[in-house]
Amino acid sequence: MKIACIGTGFVGVVTSAVFASFGHEVIGLDIDQDKIDALSAGEVPFFEPGLKELLDETLESQRLSFTTSYQEAIESAEVIMVMVGTPSAADGQADLKYVIKSSEMLAPNLDDGAIVVIKSTVPPGTNLKIREVISSKTEVNFTVASVPEFLKEGSAVKDTLHPARVLIGANDKATIEKLTLLHQPLTDNILVMKPESAQMAKYASNTYLATRITFINQIADLCQKNGADIEEVISGMGQDPRIGQHYWYPGFGYGGSCFPKDVSELAAYSRAVGEANNLMNKVHELNQERVPRLLAQFGNKIGGWGGKKVAVLGLSFKPNTDDTRQAPSLQIIPQLIEAGAEVRSYDPRASLPKLEEKTDQYQQLTSIEAATKKADIIMAVVEWPQITSFDYSQIKDPDLDQVFIDGRNQFSAEQIEKWGFKYLGIGRT
Ligand code: UGA
Repeated sequence: MKIACIGTGFVGVVTSAVFASFGHEVIGLDIDQDKIDALSAGEVPFFEPGLKELLDETLESQRLSFTTSYQEAIESAEVIMVMVGTPSAADGQADLKYVIKSSEMLAPNLDDGAIVVIKSTVPPGTNLKIREVISSKTEVNFTVASVPEFLKEGSAVKDTLHPARVLIGANDKATIEKLTLLHQPLTDNILVMKPESAQMAKYASNTYLATRITFINQIADLCQKNGADIEEVISGMGQDPRIGQHYWYPGFGYGGSCFPKDVSELAAYSRAVGEANNLMNKVHELNQERVPRLLAQFGNKIGGWGGKKVAVLGLSFKPNTDDTRQAPSLQIIPQLIEAGAEVRSYDPRASLPKLEEKTDQYQQLTSIEAATKKADIIMAVVEWPQITSFDYSQIKDPDLDQVFIDGRNQFSAEQIEKWGFKYLGIGRT
């Protein structure tokens, strides 16, 4: 099948390479010439495990290529996947300008019978708008379907190759058949539904997971008040199969390019359709307050941050990615500096160069040993394996009363204390 993938961001590059690896002829399209040149040369502009190998393999097989030309990409493509960004607009709802622009651009080049698949996260009802935009610029027959993306950064290739489910939001029989055929090698779990349902399912999934994180963070805060241990609470709750033990790491709040955006977009959408009193507003607000609240809690326990040397371990928004969008570190470090601390950081992949330029109270180092040297406080923020499996007895300074803050409850308090640190976790007293 000839497939055009519009947008070479995170989802676009992974999806293009995965479909090319299944033998399809895929052209990735972007308006950014530098990006296209880099991708054509096999350079991935971000760190994602396994992607470079897949890109090299599919470029070499000539099943994958990249272009900036709409004509070249769209002409004779049977399926066109739209994977451009949908940043939040001023009113908080998804800004569809890139989706609309790509629809306008692809329309004059469409082949008869082409299927336009919207993979970008868009509010229900968007397919009708896109249909109108395209129809105003072409006479050919085409259909618009919605196949939302559920991949996670850090395991994007694996998630795309083995998705938990594929949702095909379409009304037309031939479109459903073709998209089912395309996705069949990935999973048997293909659910066909209305486009509006697929779009709601995407927003609802991300918002549910973000709510789950916010909920357990709140329970962790309550544990601080009464001597309960959140990890024991989670194991007690998790025995109920309706609840489960998974996706329950309390911490500094959720980050990344998706949860914060999707939760606040669904909140704005709810307000726009007359449901102003919605849960999503509150979830977003609570997550925004998470870093200052935890820094105040820990600050109280260590006698304030002023004059302390703090080693922050983990800058990305989660492990196995160099992505720092909406990462807790972006709030943690400036707030520590503001409170008078001196901060050294370490991350296996990510960096915050702009912050380093701004102040001499902050410096990023290239190893845990260097970042924790003479530190009063060691704060593990992200559960990178390099951070969680490190032997901290090696860096214990016998001249200092050092505190270890376990920002993701990944460590055994007993072990950390055996190494000579005072242990502080989330929701653990
Ligand atoms: C998320 C969804 O999980 C994907 O299914 C979806 O496709 C993607 O958004 C998207 O919309 O494109 P992602 O942002 O890559 O994927 O990351 P997650 O692994 O879901 O983590 C999101 C945030 O929640 C991270 O900051 C993570 O540290 C935090 N988190 C996760 C917790 O604080 N506690 C947990 O128990 C789990």
